[in-house]
Amino acid sequence: MADKLRVGVIGCGSMTTNHTYGYLNSARYEVVGISDLSEQAMSDFDEKFAEYSDYKAEHFTDFREMLSKARPEVVSVGVWHKGHSPMTVAAAATPGVKAVLCEKPMADSLGAAREMLIKTAKNGVKLVIGHQRRFLPAYTLARQMIEDGEIGDVRLITSVAGDGLPNYATHQTDMFRYLLGDVECTWVTGQVERQTDHWERATPIEDKALAVFGFENEAQAMIVSDLTPVRWQGARIYGSQGMIEMTTDDLYLMNANSSGWAHHKPDGEFLKYGEDRFEWIEAGAAQARELADWVEGRSDYHRNNGDNGYKALEMIHGVYESARLHEQVFIPVKTMVNPLEEMINDGHLQVRYPGRHDIRAGQLRGENLGEDIDNA
Ligand SMILES: NC(=O)c1ccc[n+]([C@@H]2O[C@H](COP(=O)([O-])OP(=O)(O)OC[C@H]3O[C@@H](n4cnc5c(N)ncnc54)[C@H](O)[C@@H]3O)[C@@H](O)[C@H]2O)c1
Repeated sequence: MADKLRVGVIGCGSMTTNHTYGYLNSARYEVVGISDLSEQAMSDFDEKFAEYSDYKAEHFTDFREMLSKARPEVVSVGVWHKGHSPMTVAAAATPGVKAVLCEKPMADSLGAAREMLIKTAKNGVKLVIGHQRRFLPAYTLARQMIEDGEIGDVRLITSVAGDGLPNYATHQTDMFRYLLGDVECTWVTGQVERQTDHWERATPIEDKALAVFGFENEAQAMIVSDLTPVRWQGARIYGSQGMIEMTTDDLYLMNANSSGWAHHKPDGEFLKYGEDRFEWIEAGAAQARELADWVEGRSDYHRNNGDNGYKALEMIHGVYESARLHEQVFIPVKTMVNPLEEMINDGHLQVRYPGRHDIRAGQLRGENLGEDIDNA
């Protein structure tokens, strides 16, 4: 076995915990450095991985110092959204860094996401965006069933989301493309409502949204977000000859051969169906293993590469752009700022019930109730 890839982590929170389980469970990495503004966050992080011999992380309160001193080859970026682009760019500019695994949404604007693509490409650094659900066995089985023609031509995919489109629903825009064999989305139309000063991880979000997407193979997809309290990751997929209802764990197929709804519960490669934290552990480890293969030249592709991450974000910002311009928006989206922020700043979307509230304020440490990205 070749030497293990050296990992450095920026932001010791919930999602880099998942990355780190992925690195360690895939057995292809050693974690050599972690950085966080909070010493407590780093000690809490250490405790979670105490039993792993490949976890030997030095602590840094300055992520740039971690990049230069810990000499990581793979960098995890898991701070809140607006830190994703500057930190990915900084990592990509650091000698020795071969890959960045950055959390979703890729960035807080398409312009910032483009900078990530430009700088990683320029420096030959591989970029992965953490839409880890592409690695769920049920998602991959549904994709295979669609490719095999089990439900004929896909006509419509529906999903329900909540807590803001960029937060929850980039997983779904990414999933639509994954299920459809990564065909391109060609147009978007949408509507948003924002009567309260609603934020999520220090970026503004809408109160409610409705979005419809068209794809180059004539399939369509729809997201109903925050219009009801119901939300789940997964999809209802309607085809010309059958249907699939898919969750993060399992799926039901109905077609002419299935005698009603046939239940499929595929095992993962790291875990069996139904094991504790199946979704998170399985997807994290499989995502990390595919990244190691890509970095080490055993494959030339990662399903969560930066281009796919960008397209998932572009579909979401296309919804905002459609609401801003009151028209159907064609991909590529040309506006490089966040169209929702643009609507807020130019008075197009006026708050009716003032008072900023961030739905993730409870994750902040100390007395902080608002921002969480310093020094980025
Ligand atoms: N892929 C998924 O399913 C999924 C799930 C949850 C969150 N996320 C994404 O992960 C990202 C992080 O969310 P989270 O809930 O894990 O965050 P979190 O609040 O749990 O952790 C963020 C950490 O970053 C640290 N931080 C802030 N500024 C820093 C800086 N300059 N240098 C170093 N550390 C810094 C904070 O102190 C905090 O410990 C978000 O963009 C979120 O959308 C993705």
